[in-house]
Amino acid sequence: MTPSATAPAARRALVTGASTGIGAATVRLLRAHGWDVVATARRTERLEALASETGCQWVGADLQDQDDVDRLAARVLDGGRLDAVVNNAGGALGTDPVAHGKVQEWLTMYERNALAALRVSQAFLPTLREHGGDLLFLTSTAAHDTYPGGGGYVAAKHAERVIATTLRQELVGEPVRVIEIAPGMVATEEFSLNRFHGDRARADAVYAGVEAPLVAEDVAECVAWTLERPAHVNIDSLVVRPRAQATNTLVARH
Ligand SMILES: NC(=O)c1ccc[n+]([C@@H]2O[C@H](COP(=O)([O-])OP(=O)(O)OC[C@H]3O[C@@H](n4cnc5c(N)ncnc54)[C@H](OP(=O)(O)O)[C@@H]3O)[C@@H](O)[C@H]2O)c1
Repeated sequence: MTPSATAPAARRALVTGASTGIGAATVRLLRAHGWDVVATARRTERLEALASETGCQWVGADLQDQDDVDRLAARVLDGGRLDAVVNNAGGALGTDPVAHGKVQEWLTMYERNALAALRVSQAFLPTLREHGGDLLFLTSTAAHDTYPGGGGYVAAKHAERVIATTLRQELVGEPVRVIEIAPGMVATEEFSLNRFHGDRARADAVYAGVEAPLVAEDVAECVAWTLERPAHVNIDSLVVRPRAQATNTLVARH
């Protein structure tokens, strides 16, 4: 290297749903890999703590609100070029069978998983198309197959996956990679607790007797790995489950 050569600029990523779980683990890992990262979620005190810990930037936003997404995009792009968007915000509500599913919960899940990713992707597509970059969707094995009681979440995650698969076709030939990561069971702090509306016993039962469910850091490794492949390599879809899980419903417990 000649004395005048400069190190390449760090790549810069936006991670949604960064206040906890997979999103927070992804921020930590990308920062450890030398990325500049903007973290977003609604709970700003958690983002502030993550920023002190990792040196990431943060912007508070409710991704179900278009004005918030527009403000987020303006703030992020004001800070420089963006190389990757990690659409991770989401979550499940309830396990009612279709016959009794609460329409409002289905709507909220569609907003949180599908439309949030749509809004964020639309906001950053112009810059990604112009300069090149990656759009990553954290879907789920619920985006690939259904299970009894999963209807509303499965429908929302299928919709999110379809945004990714459609975009990949619409953008072919352009310098944008569209990546899907579809995890099975991941024991995060809040996912099941939110699904069961704060019922700790029901949330804990999801992971009871399962030897080593995935943890947030396992999925963060997948995110970093896919983003760090050479630019011509597009990992279309990566399904990742714990060894103890074969399908959405077939889980070994002891
Ligand atoms: N855990 C699993 O078993 C599992 C398996 C497969 C796929 N996934 C998917 O992977 C992603 C992350 O999972 P996780 O377990 O880490 O979830 P989590 O712990 O429930 O965290 C969800 C994140 O989404 C954010 N969020 C939710 N609604 C939002 C909104 N309206 N606006 C902005 N942010 C919002 C939350 O932040 P605030 O509340 O602070 O806004 C939080 O940071 C989700 O898309 C989930 O569906 C999870």
